[in-house]
Amino acid sequence: MKAPASENREKNANTEIKSVIRTDKLIRTVTDADGQELHILQGVNCQIYAGESVAILGSSGAGKSTLLGLLAGLDQASGGEIWLNDQPMSQLDEEGRAQMRQQVGFVFQSFQLLEHLTALENVMLPLELAGEKDYQAKARQWLERVGLGERTKHYPRQLSGGEQQRVAIARAFAGDPLVLFADEPTGNLDSVTGQSIIDLLFTLNKENNTTLILVTHDANLAQHCQRRLTLSDGLLHEEAAVAVAEEA
Ligand SMILES: Nc1ncnc2c1ncn2[C@@H]1O[C@H](COP(=O)(O)OP(=O)(O)OP(=O)(O)O)[C@@H](O)[C@H]1O
Ligand SMILES: [Mg+2]
Repeated sequence: MKAPASENREKNANTEIKSVIRTDKLIRTVTDADGQELHILQGVNCQIYAGESVAILGSSGAGKSTLLGLLAGLDQASGGEIWLNDQPMSQLDEEGRAQMRQQVGFVFQSFQLLEHLTALENVMLPLELAGEKDYQAKARQWLERVGLGERTKHYPRQLSGGEQQRVAIARAFAGDPLVLFADEPTGNLDSVTGQSIIDLLFTLNKENNTTLILVTHDANLAQHCQRRLTLSDGLLHEEAAVAVAEEA
């Protein structure tokens, strides 16, 4: 397994390099409508380090969203193990899983904002549920950080696609997640807006040292990541070595 890129080695210079997510022979099998077993993930092994940015690539139907859902604790594996910060997920009960989900953020292709809540309320809600005291001030700060300080009272339908995705990014980062998962974050955006979302994700990734795990078909977005992993035939392969130039 590759060591993280130079940037992260620098950040981790005085600390042990730590994997934030590790999987061992991760399996996901589902039964389709005809009663046929579908072996989506057939033994995925991976190790992702603190602060890294990783792209997960693969053709449509390869199982990328399935894998992301398992890593984020949204679905349960059929076999194998996932460790989040050295904690095995299979050992967690319902409450443990709920706590675990508070350590991760998720950005979806379709934004998934609550339609009847304003931008501010969308960002505030998970913070409030997590017991954060200054949830309103924190939500407002995050909306300002993604450039939406003037849009706090807008409902999702009153926002453009790029603005909605920025609200979703603010919501995901506001919880100060260890890992931020994004499934096709630019998939529903035009290329200019998509680029601004990419820039925003990577700026926040650097500033907060959040680990970023992205599923994308967007070659430009994948190139921004330190590592690219490709899912095919139910297995994950490291596609390219760290492409970030070593600094002198
Ligand atoms: N709960 C389920 N029941 C039946 N089939 C499923 C289920 N979940 C996923 N699948 C199937 O598993 C395969 C992988 O789905 P997944 O959504 O993970 O693919 P993907 O790589 O994200 O594709 P895309 O790039 O199109 O989003 C697909 O063929 C899908 O139809
Ligand atoms: Mg998908």
